[in-house]
Amino acid sequence: MSVKILMVCLGNICRSPLAEGILSSKLPKDKFRVDSAGTGSWHIGQSPDVRSIATAKKYDIDISNQRGKQFQKSDFETYDYIYVMDQSNYENVIELSENPDQKNKVKIILDELFPNENVDVPDPYFGLPNGFEIVYKMLDEVCDIIAEKLIEKHR
Ligand code: 4NP
Repeated sequence: MSVKILMVCLGNICRSPLAEGILSSKLPKDKFRVDSAGTGSWHIGQSPDVRSIATAKKYDIDISNQRGKQFQKSDFETYDYIYVMDQSNYENVIELSENPDQKNKVKIILDELFPNENVDVPDPYFGLPNGFEIVYKMLDEVCDIIAEKLIEKHR
C-alpha cells in the first residue's frame, strides 16, 4: 500500500497543484501517491491556473492533467500526511477534523523549513506574474526536505 500525501490550498488551482507536481517528482511512484485539494469549491473539476501550468512546465513538470477537488472530511482517513499552504487553509481544514489523530496529520508546509514559524506560501492568484516563480522556488525547496524525510521514514 502506498503512502498518501495531500497538498491543500484555497482554490486548488495555483499553489497546491504545484506542490503536488513538485513533491510527486521527488518520490518513487511505486511507494508514494501525492494529490491536492482546495478548501473552496469554486474550481472543482478545473485544470490548474495557466500560470501554474506554465511555471511547472519550465522545470519539466507536467501538472496539466490535474483537476480541481475540494477537501473533504474523508480525506483525513484517506491521507497519511496533509500539508496546507497557509494559516487560513490550516484553520479551514482543522475545523473539519473530528479527533486529535486527524488534527495531527495537518501541517503548515513551510514549517518543514522554518519550524513553528507558521510562514505562509503566499497566494499568487491576484498577484504579480513572478509570484508563481517565487511560489515554485519555495515549494521546490521545502519538498526536497519533505521527500527526504518521507523516503527515510518509509524505507
Ligand atoms: P490557490 O489560489 O489557493 O493557490 O489555488 C487561489 C485560486 C483561486 C481563488 C483563490 C485562491 N479564488 O478565489 O477563486
